[in-house]
Amino acid sequence: MAKIPPGVGPRFPQVVVLFGATGDLARRKLLPGLYHLSAAGFIPGCRIIGVSLDDLDADGFRAAARGALGEFSSRPVTEADWAHFAQGLDYVPLAAGPAALKTAVDAAERSLGGETRRLHYLSVPPSAALSAVQMLGEAGLVERSRIVMEKPFGTDLASAVTLNARLHQTFAEEQIFRIDHFLGKEPAQNILAFRFANGLFEPIWNRNFIDHVQIDVPETLGLGTRAGFYEQTGAYRDMVVTHLFQILAFMAMEPPTALEPAPISEEKNKVFRSMLPIQPADVVRGQYAGYRGEPGVDPESETETFIALKCYIDNWRWAGVPFFLRTGKRMAEGQRIISIAFREPPKSMFPPGSGVGAQGPDHLTFDLADASKMSLSFYGKRPGPGMRLDKLSLQFAMHDTGLIGEVLEAYERLILDAMRGDRTLFTTAEGIERLWQVSTQLLESPPPVRLYPPGSWGPKSIHQLIAPHAWRLPFERAWRDPNKTGG
Ligand code: BG6
Repeated sequence: MAKIPPGVGPRFPQVVVLFGATGDLARRKLLPGLYHLSAAGFIPGCRIIGVSLDDLDADGFRAAARGALGEFSSRPVTEADWAHFAQGLDYVPLAAGPAALKTAVDAAERSLGGETRRLHYLSVPPSAALSAVQMLGEAGLVERSRIVMEKPFGTDLASAVTLNARLHQTFAEEQIFRIDHFLGKEPAQNILAFRFANGLFEPIWNRNFIDHVQIDVPETLGLGTRAGFYEQTGAYRDMVVTHLFQILAFMAMEPPTALEPAPISEEKNKVFRSMLPIQPADVVRGQYAGYRGEPGVDPESETETFIALKCYIDNWRWAGVPFFLRTGKRMAEGQRIISIAFREPPKSMFPPGSGVGAQGPDHLTFDLADASKMSLSFYGKRPGPGMRLDKLSLQFAMHDTGLIGEVLEAYERLILDAMRGDRTLFTTAEGIERLWQVSTQLLESPPPVRLYPPGSWGPKSIHQLIAPHAWRLPFERAWRDPNKTGG
């Protein structure tokens, strides 16, 4: 195992209280992530107390955690590392109440010895979050603690304001870490590096040079077992008001005064403050054919499984530049891209038919897949006589660098940051409330849902929404595969 550089992990051993410990997210991401962080030596000591409605004991929870690692860990689980991790697991059923939780946390802290910190992770539906907060308050576990909250952070402005006010009765804002796992993805942070560590791009990062921006996250996945959650949520609340707007903020923000949590949050919040309210006429809501027949779905459901929209950031840098966002379930391809279309040259001196402009504008494209990829497309001369132009591209793939082994999964990265008290990649109450505020008109008068065939790119009206431009996906030219020559 590679040696962990100092300062990357938390200074103090951690007691993690994991609410929703037997749920889907805990099984898929949180337990495998905590296992990896512990085994790789990122955390200088870790005890995990699972809490959920299930009536288990510590051994039952260990068995459930072992099953989750077997099924979902992306890395091999060794018997020695597992034995060490398992010995740090404990369990308190929710019904046992605050006193039992406090006893378990005290025992965990004693076993770690010395100074420790508490990380409460609420991997529970919104309806259960506040009662978990209350239990932590009653158990006297607020001191020396941080609390990680999962989305959705409310369902509209009023509910978000109420949720934040109730949270603040128990925890200070500085203790609250609202997680958005898209910000934990390496390529999302690479947007900041790309923009602010180079002098080359920032001068053209504005309305004078950029024509429009697309943030496109189609998914091939359906609902799995999440119909209950999804029926209440829909694509806008599940993906846009969370992940896509956060990515948009990284794309659009001004350079922060320092690469630190407060200046970065401030710049992101300025983007949100400058956003114009989303207009229902600029939104296409879709539902895949067959959704209403899925188990747990209302046969007359109006929930959208797809959304595409146009929004504007009305500030000096971006006034008049449309940002097109799209995401949906059961679509043709799974992709996560940001694509920036540059303005075309003011005049073309190339002969008619030479091909200039025929394949759309120049694009800078970021692929937010786990290993970053980027591409810059431009017109160049096709070799041979005359002047025939073709769309060519420069492509970069992190895979080619040999650095890929260092990647932490998004949740791992964010859990580690929360343990260190670093809020840089977390969202704030103010930012979230503003996003609900710009969503009010859409939530109050949503356009009707239009059906789309599973495996497609959404309802037909997506083309009108973006005209006279075109959606970048599906790509006309696929990413080049470095293992193939001539691609
Ligand atoms: C989750 C949404 O937050 O993000 C899911 O609830 C979605 O509906 C998922 O599928 C996408 O995340 P990733 O990391 O798989 O792109």
